[in-house]
Amino acid sequence: MTDKQELYDLVRARIRELIAGETDLIAVMAAVACELHHSFDFDWTGFYRVVEPGLLKIGPYQGSHGCLTISFDKGVCGAAARLRKTLTVPDVRQFPGYIACSASTKSEIVVPVLTPGPDLVAVLDVDSDRLSAFDEIDRVNLEEICRMVGAVVRLGRAI
Ligand code: SME
Repeated sequence: MTDKQELYDLVRARIRELIAGETDLIAVMAAVACELHHSFDFDWTGFYRVVEPGLLKIGPYQGSHGCLTISFDKGVCGAAARLRKTLTVPDVRQFPGYIACSASTKSEIVVPVLTPGPDLVAVLDVDSDRLSAFDEIDRVNLEEICRMVGAVVRLGRAI
């Protein structure tokens, strides 16, 4: 097992403990963003929430300022929301329509947060200041963490 997988195992267990019994989606997103950001060398870690059809607004995050609003037709976050699919971008300069919120971001991964419904409630955006920073280990583990976040919403839309 790689060191990174071992760290994700610890982080997932800590997140599970932190959010146990919590039913407020924003509180859970805040705990997850904080735990992930301070466990790995990510440059920006946070959520964009679906606030109306086709529109994302910034949610809990760690890092410098992010864009406040992203429509589904813009950037990696918008594409991941539209496709309801994880997008791993090894070099953001190669991504058509990339939104450069921070000059330091070189690669990123964006994971949809789906309820058991499955409704799309948010996306998790993780950025790195290194090229090709994210691999299958990140994808699998961040998808699992996003399933834990989405599971908080049991009855319809919470946001
Ligand atoms: N990079 C994102 C925008 C959000 S910020 O980087 C925080 C994108 O293109 O979707």
